Amino acid sequence: MSTDALPIGLGCSRLGSVNGASGPEALAILQAALDDGIRFFDTSNIYAQGDSERLLSQVLGGRDDVIVCSKAGKFLSWKKRTLVPLKGLLRGVARRSGQARKGVASARAKPMPTRWDPAFLTASIDASLGRLKRERMEMFMLHSPDAEVVRRGEAVGALAAAAQAGKIGIVGVSVDDVACAEACLQDPRVRAIQVPLHPGDTAFDAILAEARGKGVAVIAREILGGPAAISGASDPRTYAAERIAEVILRPDVTLTLVGTTRLANLTASVAAARAATESSA
Ligand SMILES: NC(=O)c1ccc[n+]([C@@H]2O[C@H](COP(=O)([O-])OP(=O)(O)OC[C@H]3O[C@@H](n4cnc5c(N)ncnc54)[C@H](OP(=O)(O)O)[C@@H]3O)[C@@H](O)[C@H]2O)c1
Repeated sequence: MSTDALPIGLGCSRLGSVNGASGPEALAILQAALDDGIRFFDTSNIYAQGDSERLLSQVLGGRDDVIVCSKAGKFLSWKKRTLVPLKGLLRGVARRSGQARKGVASARAKPMPTRWDPAFLTASIDASLGRLKRERMEMFMLHSPDAEVVRRGEAVGALAAAAQAGKIGIVGVSVDDVACAEACLQDPRVRAIQVPLHPGDTAFDAILAEARGKGVAVIAREILGGPAAISGASDPRTYAAERIAEVILRPDVTLTLVGTTRLANLTASVAAARAATESSA
Protein backbone atom coordinates (compact mmCIF):
# COMPACT_ATOMS: atom_id res chain seq x y z
CA MET A 1 0.00 0.00 0.00
CA SER A 2 1.24 3.45 -0.87
CA THR A 3 1.58 6.03 1.87
CA ASP A 4 1.46 9.05 -0.46
CA ALA A 5 -1.18 11.49 0.82
CA LEU A 6 -4.30 11.51 -1.34
CA PRO A 7 -6.42 14.57 -2.24
CA ILE A 8 -9.43 12.99 -0.57
CA GLY A 9 -10.58 13.12 2.99
CA LEU A 10 -12.72 10.63 4.87
CA GLY A 11 -16.20 11.81 5.88
CA CYS A 12 -16.71 10.22 9.31
CA SER A 13 -20.34 11.20 9.96
CA ARG A 14 -21.67 7.63 10.08
CA LEU A 15 -18.71 5.93 11.74
CA GLY A 16 -20.13 4.57 15.00
CA SER A 17 -23.70 5.63 14.23
CA VAL A 18 -26.77 3.44 14.60
CA ASN A 19 -27.35 3.19 10.83
CA GLY A 20 -23.66 3.24 9.97
CA ALA A 21 -20.53 1.26 10.77
CA SER A 22 -20.29 -0.35 14.22
CA GLY A 23 -17.20 0.33 16.35
CA PRO A 24 -14.97 -2.51 15.01
CA GLU A 25 -16.08 -1.85 11.40
CA ALA A 26 -15.41 1.85 11.81
CA LEU A 27 -11.95 1.23 13.29
CA ALA A 28 -11.07 -1.02 10.33
CA ILE A 29 -12.21 1.66 7.87
CA LEU A 30 -10.22 4.37 9.65
CA GLN A 31 -7.08 2.21 9.78
CA ALA A 32 -7.42 1.31 6.08
CA ALA A 33 -7.89 4.99 5.21
CA LEU A 34 -4.65 5.84 7.04
CA ASP A 35 -2.80 2.93 5.42
CA ASP A 36 -4.04 4.10 2.01
CA GLY A 37 -2.64 7.60 2.49
CA ILE A 38 -5.73 9.52 3.57
CA ARG A 39 -4.64 12.28 5.94
CA PHE A 40 -7.84 14.36 6.32
CA PHE A 41 -10.69 13.26 8.58
CA ASP A 42 -13.95 15.20 8.81
CA THR A 43 -16.04 14.82 11.96
CA SER A 44 -18.28 16.75 14.36
CA ASN A 45 -19.34 16.78 18.00
CA ILE A 46 -22.73 15.33 17.01
CA TYR A 47 -21.66 12.58 14.60
CA ALA A 48 -22.64 9.23 16.11
CA GLN A 49 -23.35 11.11 19.35
CA GLY A 50 -19.63 11.85 19.77
CA ASP A 51 -18.51 8.30 18.91
CA SER A 52 -17.10 9.44 15.54
CA GLU A 53 -14.54 11.59 17.40
CA ARG A 54 -13.90 8.84 19.97
CA LEU A 55 -13.20 6.26 17.23
CA LEU A 56 -10.87 8.71 15.48
CA SER A 57 -8.90 9.10 18.71
CA GLN A 58 -8.36 5.33 18.88
CA VAL A 59 -6.84 5.14 15.40
CA LEU A 60 -5.06 8.46 15.10
CA GLY A 61 -3.65 8.65 18.63
CA GLY A 62 -1.49 11.75 18.85
CA ARG A 63 -0.32 11.61 15.18
CA ASP A 64 0.70 15.00 13.89
CA ASP A 65 0.74 14.16 10.17
CA VAL A 66 -3.07 14.24 9.87
CA ILE A 67 -5.70 16.96 9.67
CA VAL A 68 -8.69 16.44 11.91
CA CYS A 69 -11.56 18.79 11.15
CA SER A 70 -14.38 18.87 13.67
CA LYS A 71 -17.36 21.21 14.02
CA ALA A 72 -19.61 22.86 16.58
CA GLY A 73 -22.94 24.63 16.78
CA LYS A 74 -25.38 21.70 16.81
CA PHE A 75 -26.29 19.63 19.84
CA LEU A 76 -28.36 16.56 20.67
CA SER A 77 -31.88 17.22 21.87
CA TRP A 78 -32.84 15.87 25.29
CA LYS A 79 -34.84 13.11 23.55
CA LYS A 80 -31.87 11.97 21.45
CA ARG A 81 -29.54 12.06 24.48
CA THR A 82 -31.79 9.64 26.35
CA LEU A 83 -31.39 7.13 23.49
CA VAL A 84 -27.57 7.16 23.55
CA PRO A 85 -27.22 4.33 26.14
CA LEU A 86 -29.50 2.20 23.95
CA LYS A 87 -27.36 2.58 20.82
CA GLY A 88 -26.12 -1.02 20.68
CA LEU A 89 -29.66 -2.30 21.00
CA LEU A 90 -30.98 0.12 18.36
CA ARG A 91 -28.21 -0.89 15.92
CA GLY A 92 -29.21 -4.54 16.25
CA VAL A 93 -32.86 -3.71 15.60
CA ALA A 94 -31.98 -1.43 12.65
CA ARG A 95 -29.85 -4.18 11.06
CA ARG A 96 -32.78 -6.62 11.22
CA SER A 97 -35.63 -4.29 10.23
CA GLY A 98 -35.95 -2.04 7.17
CA GLN A 99 -38.71 -0.15 8.96
CA ALA A 100 -36.44 0.58 11.93
CA ARG A 101 -33.66 1.74 9.55
CA LYS A 102 -36.09 4.17 7.94
CA GLY A 103 -37.11 5.45 11.39
CA VAL A 104 -33.47 6.09 12.34
CA ALA A 105 -32.79 7.76 8.96
CA SER A 106 -35.80 10.06 9.32
CA ALA A 107 -34.82 10.99 12.91
CA ARG A 108 -31.31 11.74 11.60
CA ALA A 109 -32.67 13.95 8.79
CA LYS A 110 -34.58 16.22 11.21
CA PRO A 111 -32.92 19.58 11.91
CA MET A 112 -30.97 19.66 15.16
CA PRO A 113 -31.02 22.43 17.75
CA THR A 114 -28.17 24.92 17.45
CA ARG A 115 -26.31 27.43 19.61
CA TRP A 116 -23.82 29.97 18.29
CA ASP A 117 -22.83 31.91 21.42
CA PRO A 118 -19.10 31.93 22.23
CA ALA A 119 -19.50 30.17 25.60
CA PHE A 120 -21.24 27.22 23.97
CA LEU A 121 -18.81 27.02 21.03
CA THR A 122 -15.77 27.21 23.32
CA ALA A 123 -17.14 24.44 25.55
CA SER A 124 -17.89 22.37 22.43
CA ILE A 125 -14.30 22.79 21.18
CA ASP A 126 -12.95 21.64 24.57
CA ALA A 127 -15.30 18.63 24.57
CA SER A 128 -14.22 17.64 21.03
CA LEU A 129 -10.55 17.88 22.03
CA GLY A 130 -11.34 15.60 24.98
CA ARG A 131 -13.09 12.97 22.83
CA LEU A 132 -10.38 13.16 20.15
CA LYS A 133 -7.66 13.05 22.85
CA ARG A 134 -5.82 15.79 20.97
CA GLU A 135 -4.35 19.05 22.16
CA ARG A 136 -5.29 20.75 18.92
CA MET A 137 -7.58 20.27 15.92
CA GLU A 138 -5.87 21.35 12.73
CA MET A 139 -9.14 22.70 11.29
CA PHE A 140 -12.42 23.56 12.99
CA MET A 141 -15.74 24.73 11.55
CA LEU A 142 -19.09 26.17 12.49
CA HIS A 143 -21.56 23.42 11.60
CA SER A 144 -24.09 24.70 9.03
CA PRO A 145 -24.97 28.13 10.42
CA ASP A 146 -27.35 30.54 8.68
CA ALA A 147 -25.61 33.33 6.76
CA GLU A 148 -26.78 35.77 9.46
CA VAL A 149 -24.84 33.89 12.16
CA VAL A 150 -21.65 34.32 10.12
CA ARG A 151 -22.45 37.98 9.38
CA ARG A 152 -22.88 38.80 13.08
CA GLY A 153 -19.26 37.74 13.54
CA GLU A 154 -19.51 36.56 17.15
CA ALA A 155 -19.44 32.83 16.35
CA VAL A 156 -16.49 33.15 13.97
CA GLY A 157 -14.87 35.26 16.71
CA ALA A 158 -15.16 32.34 19.14
CA LEU A 159 -13.29 30.09 16.71
CA ALA A 160 -10.69 32.80 16.07
CA ALA A 161 -10.16 33.07 19.85
CA ALA A 162 -9.70 29.28 20.05
CA ALA A 163 -7.13 29.55 17.24
CA GLN A 164 -5.32 32.28 19.20
CA ALA A 165 -5.32 29.97 22.22
CA GLY A 166 -3.72 27.20 20.10
CA LYS A 167 -6.70 24.84 20.36
CA ILE A 168 -7.46 24.91 16.64
CA GLY A 169 -5.56 25.65 13.45
CA ILE A 170 -7.58 26.81 10.47
CA VAL A 171 -10.91 28.54 11.18
CA GLY A 172 -13.70 27.39 8.86
CA VAL A 173 -17.42 27.21 8.24
CA SER A 174 -19.35 24.28 6.85
CA VAL A 175 -22.07 25.89 4.74
CA ASP A 176 -25.38 24.62 3.42
CA ASP A 177 -26.15 27.42 0.95
CA VAL A 178 -24.53 30.05 -1.28
CA ALA A 179 -25.67 32.94 0.97
CA CYS A 180 -23.67 31.51 3.86
CA ALA A 181 -20.63 30.93 1.65
CA GLU A 182 -20.86 34.59 0.54
CA ALA A 183 -20.98 35.73 4.16
CA CYS A 184 -17.88 33.62 4.92
CA LEU A 185 -15.91 35.25 2.12
CA GLN A 186 -16.64 38.66 3.65
CA ASP A 187 -14.92 37.65 6.90
CA PRO A 188 -11.13 37.37 6.53
CA ARG A 189 -10.92 35.17 9.65
CA VAL A 190 -12.64 32.34 7.73
CA ARG A 191 -9.88 30.48 5.88
CA ALA A 192 -11.83 27.37 4.82
CA ILE A 193 -15.38 26.57 3.79
CA GLN A 194 -17.01 23.18 3.37
CA VAL A 195 -19.69 23.06 0.65
CA PRO A 196 -22.15 20.41 -0.59
CA LEU A 197 -21.29 19.61 -4.23
CA HIS A 198 -24.01 17.19 -5.33
CA PRO A 199 -23.57 15.67 -8.80
CA GLY A 200 -24.80 18.10 -11.46
CA ASP A 201 -25.25 20.99 -9.00
CA THR A 202 -23.58 24.16 -10.26
CA ALA A 203 -25.04 26.56 -7.66
CA PHE A 204 -21.69 26.99 -5.88
CA ASP A 205 -19.51 27.44 -8.99
CA ALA A 206 -19.24 31.24 -8.89
CA ILE A 207 -18.61 31.43 -5.15
CA LEU A 208 -15.94 28.71 -5.37
CA ALA A 209 -14.10 30.75 -7.99
CA GLU A 210 -14.24 33.71 -5.59
CA ALA A 211 -12.98 31.57 -2.71
CA ARG A 212 -10.08 30.42 -4.85
CA GLY A 213 -9.24 34.04 -5.71
CA LYS A 214 -9.17 34.89 -1.99
CA GLY A 215 -7.07 31.86 -1.05
CA VAL A 216 -9.87 30.32 1.03
CA ALA A 217 -9.66 26.52 1.10
CA VAL A 218 -12.70 24.68 -0.28
CA ILE A 219 -13.62 21.26 1.10
CA ALA A 220 -16.20 19.57 -1.16
CA ARG A 221 -18.68 17.22 0.53
CA GLU A 222 -21.62 14.98 -0.47
CA ILE A 223 -20.06 14.64 -3.92
CA LEU A 224 -21.64 11.21 -4.43
CA GLY A 225 -25.09 12.56 -3.65
CA GLY A 226 -25.06 12.77 0.15
CA PRO A 227 -28.57 12.10 1.52
CA ALA A 228 -29.89 10.89 -1.87
CA ALA A 229 -27.17 8.23 -2.00
CA ILE A 230 -27.53 7.24 1.65
CA SER A 231 -31.32 6.83 1.34
CA GLY A 232 -30.91 4.73 -1.83
CA ALA A 233 -32.60 7.32 -4.11
CA SER A 234 -29.40 7.32 -6.20
CA ASP A 235 -26.80 4.57 -6.57
CA PRO A 236 -23.22 5.87 -6.47
CA ARG A 237 -21.84 2.51 -7.62
CA THR A 238 -22.75 3.54 -11.16
CA TYR A 239 -20.87 6.85 -11.11
CA ALA A 240 -18.57 7.02 -8.04
CA ALA A 241 -15.20 6.63 -9.79
CA GLU A 242 -15.99 9.18 -12.50
CA ARG A 243 -17.45 11.65 -10.01
CA ILE A 244 -14.51 11.40 -7.58
CA ALA A 245 -12.10 12.06 -10.47
CA GLU A 246 -14.20 15.01 -11.68
CA VAL A 247 -14.22 16.73 -8.28
CA ILE A 248 -10.62 16.14 -7.26
CA LEU A 249 -9.44 17.57 -10.59
CA ARG A 250 -11.42 20.82 -10.11
CA PRO A 251 -8.99 23.69 -9.53
CA ASP A 252 -11.48 25.42 -7.20
CA VAL A 253 -11.67 22.43 -4.82
CA THR A 254 -8.86 22.05 -2.29
CA LEU A 255 -9.93 18.69 -0.89
CA THR A 256 -12.71 16.23 -1.63
CA LEU A 257 -14.56 14.34 1.09
CA VAL A 258 -15.93 10.87 0.53
CA GLY A 259 -18.20 9.43 3.20
CA THR A 260 -18.46 5.69 3.62
CA THR A 261 -19.37 2.95 6.07
CA ARG A 262 -17.93 0.10 3.95
CA LEU A 263 -14.34 -0.96 3.50
CA ALA A 264 -15.00 -2.01 -0.12
CA ASN A 265 -16.31 1.45 -0.99
CA LEU A 266 -13.34 3.09 0.69
CA THR A 267 -11.00 0.92 -1.38
CA ALA A 268 -12.88 1.82 -4.58
CA SER A 269 -12.81 5.54 -3.76
CA VAL A 270 -9.08 5.46 -3.00
CA ALA A 271 -8.42 3.65 -6.29
CA ALA A 272 -10.49 6.25 -8.20
CA ALA A 273 -8.67 9.13 -6.52
CA ARG A 274 -5.27 7.57 -7.17
CA ALA A 275 -6.07 6.89 -10.84
CA ALA A 276 -7.29 10.46 -11.36
CA THR A 277 -4.22 11.93 -9.64
CA GLU A 278 -1.84 9.78 -11.67
CA SER A 279 -3.59 10.56 -14.97
CA SER A 280 -3.25 14.29 -14.34
CA ALA A 281 0.40 14.16 -13.24
N1 LIG B 1 -23.30 20.08 7.33
C1 LIG B 1 -22.17 19.45 7.24
O1 LIG B 1 -21.14 19.90 7.69
C2 LIG B 1 -22.13 18.12 6.54
C3 LIG B 1 -23.29 17.59 5.96
C4 LIG B 1 -23.19 16.37 5.28
C5 LIG B 1 -21.96 15.71 5.20
N2 LIG B 1 -20.87 16.26 5.81
C6 LIG B 1 -19.54 15.60 5.75
O2 LIG B 1 -19.34 15.12 4.44
C7 LIG B 1 -19.06 13.70 4.48
C8 LIG B 1 -19.54 13.03 3.20
O3 LIG B 1 -20.94 13.15 3.10
P1 LIG B 1 -21.90 11.89 2.85
O4 LIG B 1 -21.25 10.65 3.34
O5 LIG B 1 -23.22 12.30 3.39
O6 LIG B 1 -22.04 11.87 1.29
P2 LIG B 1 -21.17 11.19 0.10
O7 LIG B 1 -19.70 11.38 0.34
O8 LIG B 1 -21.77 11.77 -1.13
O9 LIG B 1 -21.48 9.63 0.21
C9 LIG B 1 -22.76 9.14 -0.04
C10 LIG B 1 -22.77 7.65 -0.02
O10 LIG B 1 -21.96 7.13 -1.08
C11 LIG B 1 -21.53 5.82 -0.76
N3 LIG B 1 -20.19 5.58 -1.30
C12 LIG B 1 -18.99 6.07 -0.86
N4 LIG B 1 -17.98 5.66 -1.65
C13 LIG B 1 -18.53 4.89 -2.60
C14 LIG B 1 -18.01 4.16 -3.69
N5 LIG B 1 -16.71 4.17 -3.99
N6 LIG B 1 -18.88 3.47 -4.47
C15 LIG B 1 -20.20 3.46 -4.19
N7 LIG B 1 -20.76 4.13 -3.16
C16 LIG B 1 -19.93 4.82 -2.37
C17 LIG B 1 -21.52 5.74 0.74
O11 LIG B 1 -22.33 4.62 1.11
P3 LIG B 1 -21.69 3.46 2.03
O12 LIG B 1 -21.73 3.99 3.42
O13 LIG B 1 -22.61 2.32 1.79
O14 LIG B 1 -20.30 3.22 1.53
C18 LIG B 1 -22.16 7.03 1.22
O15 LIG B 1 -23.12 6.80 2.20
C19 LIG B 1 -19.76 13.24 5.75
O16 LIG B 1 -19.26 12.02 6.24
C20 LIG B 1 -19.44 14.39 6.68
O17 LIG B 1 -18.13 14.24 7.16
C21 LIG B 1 -20.91 17.45 6.46
